[in-house]
Amino acid sequence: MDLHVSLVGRRDLAGQIYRQLRAAILDGRLRVGEALPPTRELARRLEISRNTVAVAYDRLIAEGFLRGRVGAGTFVQEAGPVPRGAPEASPLRPRAIWDEVSVWPTWTPGVRWDFRAGLPDVRLFPYESWRRIMAGRLRPSALDDAAAAGDPAGLPDLRRAIARHVGVSRSVRASADDVVVTSGIQQALDLIVRVLLEPGDVVAVEDPGYPPARLLFQAAGMRVRGVPVDAEGLRVDALPDGTRAVYVTPSHQFPLGMPMSLPRRRELLDWARRRDVVVVEDDYDTEYRYGGRPIEPLQSIDEDGRVLYLGTFSKIMRPVLRLGFLVAPPSLHRAFRIARYVSSWHAELPSQAALARFIDDGLLAQHIRRSRREYQARHERVAELVGDWPGLTLVPSAAGLHLSATLPDGTDDAALVRRALAEGVGLFALSEFAVDGPSVLGLVFGYGAVARPEIDVGLARLCDIVAGLG
Ligand SMILES: Cc1ncc(COP(=O)(O)O)c(C=O)c1O
Repeated sequence: MDLHVSLVGRRDLAGQIYRQLRAAILDGRLRVGEALPPTRELARRLEISRNTVAVAYDRLIAEGFLRGRVGAGTFVQEAGPVPRGAPEASPLRPRAIWDEVSVWPTWTPGVRWDFRAGLPDVRLFPYESWRRIMAGRLRPSALDDAAAAGDPAGLPDLRRAIARHVGVSRSVRASADDVVVTSGIQQALDLIVRVLLEPGDVVAVEDPGYPPARLLFQAAGMRVRGVPVDAEGLRVDALPDGTRAVYVTPSHQFPLGMPMSLPRRRELLDWARRRDVVVVEDDYDTEYRYGGRPIEPLQSIDEDGRVLYLGTFSKIMRPVLRLGFLVAPPSLHRAFRIARYVSSWHAELPSQAALARFIDDGLLAQHIRRSRREYQARHERVAELVGDWPGLTLVPSAAGLHLSATLPDGTDDAALVRRALAEGVGLFALSEFAVDGPSVLGLVFGYGAVARPEIDVGLARLCDIVAGLG
């Protein structure tokens, strides 16, 4: 480790070095077995004689803190306690907003049947090809090339690949210049806040809706308003006056699962045009579509250039990669590029380069085709099993990695989820997604992370719990 040593004045230099090294060993910053810099190197860094450093090292060796091996270097011998933490007593306090916003959800590890929405199946991920491509992108020459292309909006090859991918698979109108590569949809939302919104602006979100988006808007000082949804999606007639931006999941409403109807899409765009409102379209999982006629994204039927389209690789690849993108009209290109730069310069380059290659070689399309078959079978199985549970009404849905079902008014869906968890079955209650309206009650069945035979076993357990409720 590159140990920090600093000297004050020119007096007792060996003593100063001795005391700093001893303190670093005693408070655990230097651990047993760790090598100290060679005397020659430390002397050069501190611009003092090598002998002065050697005097300090010798004293520490004599006291048993260090041991020296001729030709091999000097190592820490004595164990110190765990490193000291940052000072407990600090005058610094977070802004009040951070008392109101929290991390969602509270994750419980060790769930045996994990039906929590949002997770793809790690076992379906094509590790071999990803590893091979990624290894190529980590070669020094590849890293140099990538670094030269550290564009805040993303690697040009990846932006071209994404523009083609969304154009072909979802008829989104996008050129490479319209694409900004982000660390997932969450960062795309953060950029939208920075570029287009002011603290105090009213942001309308679906109720029930996706909590991380709502929390982000709240944390940025927006006034978040929940707007009810019905069988056709967000109720445009219930949008509040003074709304500056609307955040929607029209392809597969999160968490209920129905698509927004075409008339409702047109109504929303018309409303937004008349009131000069920004429309944020979160299309997080519709590469997985199992039937029914796909409805055009808002972005592709909007004639007015007011829709920001967001996509992610969290479902079709893995959420841990943290790769997503936004598609923005030319009037916003410059601002988004700069916002991306000031927030964290650009997305990690080797993964961007690997993903571009993965898409261009057809591997992403192949992976989506294969995994879609598997997810469709799971989707059908869950619908079949849950479809005739008493009291439960499935929300019609033909896409994504989860299905929702509502429960009668007065049901304590959260208690049900707690009981399920005690039996090793993890899932979300619909009431957890309420914003400010009365909660829709029910259960969300994510099948992304549960293999088919396990779906049967896990749901059989859950069925008993639900039956016990009546
Ligand atoms: C509605 C919605 N949007 C976005 C995401 C994914 O976001 P990210 O790309 O930040 O992983 C999810 C994941 O569960 C989601 O449910």
